[in-house]
Amino acid sequence: MVVVDKNESTSRKIGCYTDRYNRPIDNLRISITNRCNLNCIYCHREGVNKNSSNEMTVQEITRIVNVSTYFGIKYIKITGGEPLIRKDIFEIIKKIREIPQIENISLVTNGTLLEKMALDLKKAGLDRINISLDTLDPCKFSNITQMSEENHKKILSGVIKAIEVGLTPLKINMVMLKDINVEEFETMYEFTRDHNCILQCIELVPLENGKDQFDKHIDLKEFEKNIKKRANKIIIRRLQKRRKYFLRDGGIIEFVSPFHNSEFCANCTKIRLTSDGKLKPCLLRDDNLIDIITPIRMGASDIKIKELFKEAINLREPFYKEK
Ligand code: 5AD
Repeated sequence: MVVVDKNESTSRKIGCYTDRYNRPIDNLRISITNRCNLNCIYCHREGVNKNSSNEMTVQEITRIVNVSTYFGIKYIKITGGEPLIRKDIFEIIKKIREIPQIENISLVTNGTLLEKMALDLKKAGLDRINISLDTLDPCKFSNITQMSEENHKKILSGVIKAIEVGLTPLKINMVMLKDINVEEFETMYEFTRDHNCILQCIELVPLENGKDQFDKHIDLKEFEKNIKKRANKIIIRRLQKRRKYFLRDGGIIEFVSPFHNSEFCANCTKIRLTSDGKLKPCLLRDDNLIDIITPIRMGASDIKIKELFKEAINLREPFYKEK
């Protein structure tokens, strides 16, 4: 059975703000730092090629989220670098939670600091979490992240704790890498199924470190075909038309395949905010960023900030277009 996700399909209503390609914008992905305590060989650094230590404050982030709701943003994803490195992460979540238009706040973390923080993240108002975990093998983990195996144990404890405190549905992000973790797919699937998580299989994107590792890229189409045969229900998500497969033996797998995928782009309802305060219309481009933080720091009014937001939305364009 194939169903379109109703929870996400409401955003194309009449009168809602859309970009030049008739795409509503309901999703804001905020990088709150580019610092990270791991160093993954393939990391795309959220498509930002310069490291900047000029992080936004809690007040600045909250103000931008507030303005974004005017354009229809209702889902916030907090990311990094590693977002749990920031000492004021609880405050950031609390403040965003106070904004009534925001329906869901999620966060993507490498999980190393999660065990101790999970409960307070939940209490601060975080709804759910994605944990980047490409392998269950500590040695492989160490090769991928270029950090010690010790971290792997911490992440697994973080996964358990996050589920326990209800940061669910919890997703495990697995970037699929040829000759590294592809053959672990079934083991990873079983792990997520047995822990009531969703396995999110991600196609490697050739950005930043990912560019140098692109010989590890694999097309996920074949995988997806096989998974489809094992599913008794498929939900097509509004966002990027991602498919979520419910397998007969109880597990759930979602695929994220952006590379040369015009359908993905045509259904992208996401805009990004870099850790140094620039609106980023597309992960795959870094030539059309809109600096929003400098005007804010110079005392810009909400009207001015709205104009900048509008400008960024108007710059949105599918990276891959249908031929
Ligand atoms: N390609 C695809 N996904 C990537 N991520 C990081 N680098 C890449 C890349 N080159 C994903 C990881 C992490 C999330 C923040 O970004 O899955 O969970």
